[in-house]
Amino acid sequence: MPTEKDILSVNNISNKLGTRFIGKRVVVYPQLASTMEIAKIAASNGVPEGTVIVAEEQMSGKGRLDRIWISPKGCVTLSIILYPDIKHLPSLIMVASVAIMHAIKKITGLKAVIKWPNDILINGKKVAGILIEGTIQHINVGYAVIGIGLNVDFNVKDYPEIAEIATTLSDEKGKYVSRLDIIRTLLVEFEKLYLSARDKDIVYREWRDNMDTIGKKVSAKSGSIVYEGIVDTVAEDGSLILKTSNGEIINFTAGDVTLLK
Ligand code: BTN
Repeated sequence: MPTEKDILSVNNISNKLGTRFIGKRVVVYPQLASTMEIAKIAASNGVPEGTVIVAEEQMSGKGRLDRIWISPKGCVTLSIILYPDIKHLPSLIMVASVAIMHAIKKITGLKAVIKWPNDILINGKKVAGILIEGTIQHINVGYAVIGIGLNVDFNVKDYPEIAEIATTLSDEKGKYVSRLDIIRTLLVEFEKLYLSARDKDIVYREWRDNMDTIGKKVSAKSGSIVYEGIVDTVAEDGSLILKTSNGEIINFTAGDVTLLK
């Protein structure tokens, strides 16, 4: 059960976090429409890099492709503000995915995997998702906001839309998992990987090596055409490389894949 120690306060999140800039400044809202909207306003006002917007619960959580992200209390919902160099943009999804995997492993011991492009799964069910939004001015990034939603401790059965496809850390672990512990570890892991991703390809390799989608039969859409094939690999620019049954190689930079039996 949650205790006083698990309360999502600014102090509880950032005190002795030990990071250089991620989470040095944290803003916590008891309730928000979406952390993305507040984070984008804050970023356009030039708040320091690494500022984190956290909501206890979101009323209009945003997923990719205009989907809704169900965000009751018990979900970690946060947005991290960055001002990266444009050449580091493709690695942001890798940093976020691997940081979530690390945080889950460190706090619960559970093994999570990645489903291209932005899902984190445990035992085939979605436990977290990532949404990246930002601005590009000429050839520079204005800002990038990394939105992370992670199901920690709520009853997915209360939400029929996700009851069969989603899971929570508490359900997978079989006991209560603290959102505060997850957030603190996530921010530390995120910073480590973000700093290392600037020069090396270690984050790319870890991202690729934990990509559950590789080797699987999938269907994927490019414009109005649906392709079926086996996922060959994921590339350093974040794209997915599909080999169709007639040997054609298709490169997907965005979209969604559906796993086929
Ligand atoms: C997806 O899987 O479609 C991405 C989900 C991203 C959800 C997070 S929760 C924090 C941030 N605020 C939002 O409204 N969305 C992102």
